[in-house]
Amino acid sequence: MFDVEKIRNDFPMIRNNPDLIYFDSAATSFKPQPVIDEVIRFYETRTCNIHRGDYDISFAVSKEYDDTRETVRRFLNAQRKEEIVFSNGATSSLNIVAINFAKKFLKKGDVILTSLIEHASDILPWFVAAKEVGCEIRYTPLDEKGMIDLIGYEECFKDNRVKVVALPYVSNVLGYIYPLKELTRIAHKYNAIISVDGAQGVPHLKVDVKDLDVDFLSFSSHKMLGPGGVGILYGKYELLDQLDPVFYGGGSNARFYNDGSIILKETPEKFEAGTPCIEGVLGLNRAVEYLEKVGMDNVASYGKELTEYFISKLEKLDNVEIYNSASEAGIVTFNLKGIFSQDASGYFNKQGIAVRSGNHCAKLLFNIIGVTETIRASFYIYNTKEEIDRFVDVIKDTTIEKCVDSIL
Ligand code: ALA
Repeated sequence: MFDVEKIRNDFPMIRNNPDLIYFDSAATSFKPQPVIDEVIRFYETRTCNIHRGDYDISFAVSKEYDDTRETVRRFLNAQRKEEIVFSNGATSSLNIVAINFAKKFLKKGDVILTSLIEHASDILPWFVAAKEVGCEIRYTPLDEKGMIDLIGYEECFKDNRVKVVALPYVSNVLGYIYPLKELTRIAHKYNAIISVDGAQGVPHLKVDVKDLDVDFLSFSSHKMLGPGGVGILYGKYELLDQLDPVFYGGGSNARFYNDGSIILKETPEKFEAGTPCIEGVLGLNRAVEYLEKVGMDNVASYGKELTEYFISKLEKLDNVEIYNSASEAGIVTFNLKGIFSQDASGYFNKQGIAVRSGNHCAKLLFNIIGVTETIRASFYIYNTKEEIDRFVDVIKDTTIEKCVDSIL
C-alpha cells in the first residue's frame, strides 16, 4: 500500500528542511536513505576504480556496477542488459544517439521529425546533426493544448523522407504523457526509428520498452531518486551496436595500434570510455529498487492524483492562468495574472516554497502556449496534498506588491 508518510521518513532532505515545500522534482528529485547510504558506503569502505583493479574491492564493486545494468534492464523490461549504457546524464545519452545516428544513417535531404515541446537536450543535438549532414528538421503538428495530433503526425511521414523521430515521453513543461506506443508504431510503419527523451517519463511511469517498441530511450538517474552524474541510454541491441561512441578512451577499447587503428570493446562497454560515476551507478541500483518497492503503478497514480488535485484547486482561483490542465505526470505550469513568473517564484521562495520559473529549457514551446515564461510546480512521491493546500493559500494571497516587497 502507498504510504506517503512512511516514504517521507526515508528522505533526509524532508527531515532536515521542515519548513521547505519542494515542488521542483522535475529539475531533480530528493534521494532516499538507501541511495545516500550506498554512495557513502562506496566512499567510506569501497573506494576503488572498476574493471581495472586486481584486488578484492575492485572485483566486488565492478560486479555491483555490472549488476546495476541488470537492475535497469529489469526496470525497463529490456531484452538484454547489454542494451543499457551508462552515460553522465540524459543529455549525454541523447547526444550519443543524435550525433552518431546522423553520421552513420542519415544523408542529405532526410528528415528528422521532432516537435516544439522539446527540451533543449532533445533538440539541439539534432539541430547540429541536421546541419552537419544536410537534413531537414520537421515539427509534428500539436493541438492548441500541446498534445500531438496523431493524424498530422502520420502526415509528416507521407513523403517517405522521415528517417528519425525525436520526441519526449512526457513534456518537462506540460506534463502530458505522449502516446509512445502509437507514435512508435507509426514511425516504424514508415521505416523511421524513434529516439525518446525519457527524462520526465521514466521516473513517473511504468515503462516497458519491449511493449513500447521504442528504439532509443534516454533518461537520468538524478530525476528518479538516484545520484547525479549518471544517465542511462537504452537502445535496441542491433541498433545500438551499430552506433559509434562519442567519447574514446580507457575502458572502452580492447586494443589500439601505432597505425591509429582501434579495436573497441563490445556494446555497451564501447560507449563507456573513462572512469564512470561508479558511486552514482551503485546508488542508481538502490534508487531503482526503491521505486520498484513502492511500485511504479503507485508512483504513476499518486503523481496523477497530486497533479489533478493541484489543478482542481488552481482552477478555482481568479488570479491564475494554467497552461496544462490535462497534465497527469506531476507537472503543473501556470502564471499569476499580471505577475512576472520569476517575481512570483521569488515570493514563493520567501514563503518556503521551491518552484522553477522561466522557459524550462523548452524555448520553442511559447509557439503553443503563447508565453515564454511560466511557473512550474512539479511533484514526486514524497509530496502531499497538505503541501499543495499550503501552496494554494500562498498563491491566493500573492499580489504584485508582495512580490516586489519580497525582492527589496
Ligand atoms: N531538465 C530539467 C528541468 O526540466 C532540469 O527542469
